[in-house]
Amino acid sequence: MSSASPKATNIVWHQASVDRDARAEQRGHRSAILWFTGLSGAGKSTLANAVNQALFERGLATYVLDGDNIRHGLCRDLGFSDADREENIRRIGEVAKLFLDSGVIVLTAFVSPFRADRDKARALVGEGDFLEIFCSADLSVCEERDTKGLYAKARAGDIKEFTGISSPYEAPEHPELSVDTGAGELETCVNEVVSALESRGIIPAQA
Ligand code: ADX
Repeated sequence: MSSASPKATNIVWHQASVDRDARAEQRGHRSAILWFTGLSGAGKSTLANAVNQALFERGLATYVLDGDNIRHGLCRDLGFSDADREENIRRIGEVAKLFLDSGVIVLTAFVSPFRADRDKARALVGEGDFLEIFCSADLSVCEERDTKGLYAKARAGDIKEFTGISSPYEAPEHPELSVDTGAGELETCVNEVVSALESRGIIPAQA
């Protein structure tokens, strides 16, 4: 499923005449992939949505791809085995790449527990286009929150292969940004992400 070369033959790549640079010029900001990763309940969706809101209010083109939502559609055929998670992240990497090309700042909020799968998503795009943002809330904090009641079910054995309990989570070793979504205030976390975008010249600094 995740092989590098397509199954189809006799297919030709078409180069669009409107490219990323032209879109960046028109919009006044670059596109990027903000790849939020962390345990279930770490606050990935909350942070991605809050950053999205802040960027939207500045008039920037943004979009959030959220794990739970995408699993209702594009990835509805996938479960939580290692192989299904790999395929989930492969698809999201490809979709995020399309958003990048369309000039949009795309924020992805997936557990994405495996380093190798995140690295493959990173390798799809250019240097500086992919910002891995580690939502670093500890397992104990996530379990204490248990916003969806899933940790209790996982502990009881009612959910198999649950990340952090019965399936591994490999924390990033060199994320572009590590955000304390365990103890940090949401506003502080949002500001850290927005500042990272400004300092990298992806979005203009606010006057
Ligand atoms: S990923 O591992 O493939 O990246 P994804 O982010 O799409 O996972 O989905 C994770 C969400 O699905 C969690 O936030 C949680 O709400 C739900 N979920 C249901 N079962 C599991 C499970 N076994 N492991 C992790 N999350 C699960």
